[in-house]
Amino acid sequence: MSKGSFMASATLLAKENGISGFGPDDSESIVQALKRYWGYESFRPGQEQIVRSIVSSRDACVVMPTGGGKSLCYQLPAVLDAKRTAMVVSPLIALMQDQVAQLEQMGIPAGFINSSLSGGERNETLQRACQGAYRLLYLSPERIALNGTPDWLKRVPVSFFAIDEAHCISEWGHDFRPEYRQLSRLRDLFPNHPIAAFTASATRRVRQDIVEQLRLRDPLKHISSFRRANLRYVVRQCNAKAQMQVLLQAVRRITDGSVIVYAPTITRVGETVDFFEENGIPAIAYHGQMGALARRKNQEKWMADEVRVMVGTIAFGLGIHKSSVRAVIHLALPKSVEQYYQEAGRAGRDGLPADCLLFWQKKDAGLHAYFIGQISEHEERERAWQRYHEVEDFVNSEECRQLYICRHFGELPKWEECGECDACAGVPDWLEEAAHTQKREGRAFPAVLTEESQATANPRALANGPDAELREYMREWRRNISRQKGISAFIVMYDTTLDQLCATRPSSVSELRRVPGFGEKKTQMYGEQILAALERFRNGERALLAMPALRRKRSDFSKRARLWKKLQKFASASLVP
Ligand SMILES: Nc1ncnc2c1ncn2[C@@H]1O[C@H](COP(=O)(O)OP(=O)(O)OP(=O)(O)O)[C@@H](O)[C@H]1O
Ligand SMILES: [Mg+2]
Ligand SMILES: [Zn+2]
Repeated sequence: MSKGSFMASATLLAKENGISGFGPDDSESIVQALKRYWGYESFRPGQEQIVRSIVSSRDACVVMPTGGGKSLCYQLPAVLDAKRTAMVVSPLIALMQDQVAQLEQMGIPAGFINSSLSGGERNETLQRACQGAYRLLYLSPERIALNGTPDWLKRVPVSFFAIDEAHCISEWGHDFRPEYRQLSRLRDLFPNHPIAAFTASATRRVRQDIVEQLRLRDPLKHISSFRRANLRYVVRQCNAKAQMQVLLQAVRRITDGSVIVYAPTITRVGETVDFFEENGIPAIAYHGQMGALARRKNQEKWMADEVRVMVGTIAFGLGIHKSSVRAVIHLALPKSVEQYYQEAGRAGRDGLPADCLLFWQKKDAGLHAYFIGQISEHEERERAWQRYHEVEDFVNSEECRQLYICRHFGELPKWEECGECDACAGVPDWLEEAAHTQKREGRAFPAVLTEESQATANPRALANGPDAELREYMREWRRNISRQKGISAFIVMYDTTLDQLCATRPSSVSELRRVPGFGEKKTQMYGEQILAALERFRNGERALLAMPALRRKRSDFSKRARLWKKLQKFASASLVP
């Protein structure tokens, strides 16, 4: 495919969609599409350059942090090409389904092909794909590797390939997936189509590997800073007892938003959920031994804010798009600094302050040694050790955590400290106190926190009055819609969009359209209903169910917890394949 043909068809689409004058030098049309489909006024740093580069048929290798806005970088060029389809390779079925559902809500035709489809559904999707019905088609890497795939792919009018989570292609990365290696075939099969690779966490070596494996040609290399200014990293070594107490204290301090707790083993996941329940904190589990449906259900509950604390193994999280995660807490040393960066990075995607707490124990080393010992291939075992030593170095370092991470990824920052992490600002008082209380008294912390300590934990914690009530009311509206439609709440609307909506309280469709996140389709779909809901709120209506508190009275909670446990047991027992 020549550069000209991409541009010609992009121009055609632009015209058909009433987006005028699309062309490489016309930023206006790109911005129009941004506004029309996404409802956003402006690009985030780097996005526009990447979009333009893909539109001009150049390969790309993009490293942008979690929540940085990578999806838009390939979705927007895809939308601008009316007749053709961007092929997106993505590692997880759930991730593809969510993205397709979101695109549909934005009025962008998209589909996926993976093992969740029946034979009939797959054929129908393939047929539609060959007719050019989709702007984006999501595929798993395994699908690309299948023998028949090149044949039908050749019949699809492909515009370009986007490889999401591209670090999975590298053995040096923290999440190597052998299936990704098959993507090396793409260049042979489609020598003239641009390939754009995206990842949130790639060291210099992994980036090199991505470029080599995918055989990218003079790619645009975009590497955002790895610093996440709204995140506060705190690392602390503890003994087993102190670890649970600091965990409890950390979670209790969060009065608004969600929490992810990463536990090293499935057993620890169960124990931690039990521990929370005993302390009156509703929490749910997520791990690889649960049935797919039970896992999905728990994820949905957490996404919909029905339960705010999720305890998972690392199986949880890839592609988690919850924006209001206020803390990610690790209960063991991660396998690599990259993995830690990616997991911890699920905090604060909305740009508001969030904590990344790493509470580790000396004995974690034993568990790592055990897992690494299980790796049969010598070289891979060596790499695993190397990654582990880097993690050890990270937790024992006295250097600013943000700086350490940036340097780890090959960045050379001009600043020397973030001023927030434990190395820069010391371990926060509450944590120090928590650990000592445990040592002194060996018992749980007082359950009641002062308002002041809560306020410093989270600037939004004391949000009360009409705004908080409106948020509650609109969240309830969103929950109802998500149930009616059978889609996740965040697909209806992100938290950030919901917050903006409550802050502006639009009173007409055109005012609503100006709220970031309300594109044309979303405004059409929900506009009237939202305005009616806002009107009811003005007339005094309030949410029926308040946001589930992190703490409940033990008596009413333990009853529900018992029931919930029974249901969960029943669900996982009946779902094991
Ligand atoms: N230009 C923009 N203006 C406002 N919000 C944006 C913009 N671009 C992206 N976003 C929002 O940022 C959030 C994160 O985007 P996205 O899911 O693409 O992140 P990502 O980089 O793929 O992260 P991850 O590595 O976790 O997959 C989404 O809510 C998205 O709608
Ligand atoms: Mg992404
Ligand atoms: Zn720092």
